[in-house]
Amino acid sequence: MNERKPRVLVTREVFDETLDYLRLHCEVIDNQKDQPYAPEALAQALAGCDGLMCALTDRVDAALLARAPRLKAVANIAVGYNNIDVPACTARGVMATNTPGVLDDSTADLAWALMLGTARRITEVERRIRAGEWTGWRLKQWLGVDVHHATLGIVGMGRIGQAIARRALGFEMKVLYHNRKRIAPELESKCNAAYVTLDELLAQSDFVVLQVPYSPETHHLIGAAQLKKMKPSAILINSTRGGVVDDSALVAALKQGTIRGAGLDVYENEPKLNPEFLGLDNVVLAPHIGSSTEATRKAMAMLAARNLVAALKGEVPPNLVNPDVRR
Ligand code: DGY
Repeated sequence: MNERKPRVLVTREVFDETLDYLRLHCEVIDNQKDQPYAPEALAQALAGCDGLMCALTDRVDAALLARAPRLKAVANIAVGYNNIDVPACTARGVMATNTPGVLDDSTADLAWALMLGTARRITEVERRIRAGEWTGWRLKQWLGVDVHHATLGIVGMGRIGQAIARRALGFEMKVLYHNRKRIAPELESKCNAAYVTLDELLAQSDFVVLQVPYSPETHHLIGAAQLKKMKPSAILINSTRGGVVDDSALVAALKQGTIRGAGLDVYENEPKLNPEFLGLDNVVLAPHIGSSTEATRKAMAMLAARNLVAALKGEVPPNLVNPDVRR
């Protein structure tokens, strides 16, 4: 007798190769039109499924899990998994996985693009050229600040934070970092980075780059009080998760000159962003594209698919975030 293939729901458009791989092992409900599921539609679509491949735009919580009695595994196409209620998954015996590692370098590159773009006012001057405002060379024209030899402060020194730090070697920067735990001395010397308190980092850095995961503990880690601790000449980069920064406080700080500028890839309540950002020249805005290169997004989707298939075969998936689920 033929065994039934597990049924999986893929909530967003993925690459053909990802679907081909999933279809070797599973019956797949895809969404190549990429219409995001509203919560009720997601619950209905997931009802008879054994597996879910989802993205940060999908909320996987206890209410959804209660309506998916057959569900065994949830594979997020992201390294961050704050969209998934992991304890609720564990309580229901559902494995949850993420996609660490494959996006570190691309995400670090984007943080650097925001640093350089903000320091040298790239999007502002491009807008001015397009508006016909460039009438010729002037000595004091649209002056930026140097990245080379400046002090870089990285908040969150996991794999991506370290990749950002390693890139600073070529720019001969002084690198400070703050992390829940100090990293191993050999990693500190590879990154040429010194551990400091958050307050020391805010006070001394010319560029503050946030790379902590979003959680109740990191909600509004950077608000009005922390922005005041930064140098007025400093630039803040958030390429991790909206909610780590209090966006209203940041708008006020950018308007009042509390800090010089900001480079942002993520926002509270994205894709809606605080409309006041749009009127500010001292902020560079990107639409959550940190990991968005073709190679990296393909690798993320394939890793999520492999995690899902492994879990549905009863194996331990490579990137299980709730190992307690198996006890
Ligand atoms: C991640 O992997 O957490 C990214 O933000 C997804 O683009």
